[in-house]
Amino acid sequence: MRILAIETSCDETAAAVVENGVRIVTNAVATSKEMHEKYGGIVPEVAARMQLEYIIPVITEALSPLAHGHDNRAIIEHHIDAIAVTVGPGLVGSLLVGVETAKTLGFVTHKPVIPVNHVLAHMYANFINTTRDENNYLANSEKPEIQFPAISLVVSGGHTELYLMKNEKDLIWLGGTLDDAAGECFDKTARLLGFGHGGGVAIQEAARSSAGHKSQFTGLLPRPMLGKENVYNFSFSGLKTAILREVTKLKDQNKMDDQAIAQLSQEVQETITDVLVKKTLGAVDALGAKSLLLSGGVSANIRLREKFASSLVSIGSSAPQLHVPPVALCTDNAVYIASYAYFRGIKKDWKSITAHPDLSVEVSS
Ligand code: KG4
Ligand code: ZN
Repeated sequence: MRILAIETSCDETAAAVVENGVRIVTNAVATSKEMHEKYGGIVPEVAARMQLEYIIPVITEALSPLAHGHDNRAIIEHHIDAIAVTVGPGLVGSLLVGVETAKTLGFVTHKPVIPVNHVLAHMYANFINTTRDENNYLANSEKPEIQFPAISLVVSGGHTELYLMKNEKDLIWLGGTLDDAAGECFDKTARLLGFGHGGGVAIQEAARSSAGHKSQFTGLLPRPMLGKENVYNFSFSGLKTAILREVTKLKDQNKMDDQAIAQLSQEVQETITDVLVKKTLGAVDALGAKSLLLSGGVSANIRLREKFASSLVSIGSSAPQLHVPPVALCTDNAVYIASYAYFRGIKKDWKSITAHPDLSVEVSS
């Protein structure tokens, strides 16, 4: 089964063709990041306008290897079985661009449309056949099969959620953030430290020079919700406030130099990753998981990957197998949208598809 997927929930415009949920045929992503850099953050109106411009060229690029001289409509009619599209959660204007395009394609080609939940879809990046690589990926090579039950941590710019995955299809939401997401905390810190819209990647890079060293900030930031209650929930708003307090202090004392920025970046990264690792491994232990799946933009973080890998080594032979998508499949793209649609999607007539900006991520089957 070959699925054309479309993703426009935030500031990316993406389209992909994937076979049987695991084999990438094409993966096209356009981002309006530079535009947001200029405005100091994502401006929903600007994002949606850019996506309107990008959507047809991106779909055309995704379909191009199948073209053989035909137009998009003929390619879909002859080579695509269904059209998957992110319907939520996300920015309403952005979602509408993808949703209305998918509906139009469904209408003119008579293909079914599969509505996809963006947050749940992230974890299906782990089902794609690729070899792991820091920055790139080699598509379509064999990877180890996922054993169930699995614990799945989705950490993105807007979500921090834990799931129990009984098999490819059955999901149970265990808990999530009660306030800010881990990615939001990285992004806010990046802005406070003067890295603009650079987000977690900027913090990761800044932290490099302080890695492994004690600093004036070591142990200073709160590691919230690590107690016995709220076992599967997260909270990052207190941490955000504590970071703001430290930055204000540094600025007031005229001590916001490169060293302080590097040290604070490192401590923020250590704090966020500590919380994510401890909570997730608690779930792995309590529920006897055979695999651990990471996904979402924050799972691109090198330190987070290292910490999970070394914690599992220290557990020994009973440790679950760690699955982490290549970096290019952690951040937003349409490949995992197609994979989700294959394993868990329900085909619908285009008329019944609508955008759901507040779509719930708390599933129980
Ligand atoms: O999944 P994603 O691309 O978009 C959403 O669905 O939100 O995630 C974006 C988030 C941003 O908060 C970004 O700062 C974070 O992922 N991110 C990282 C890294 N790369 C992206 N955070 C920490 N370290 C990274 N290397
Ligand atoms: Zn995402």
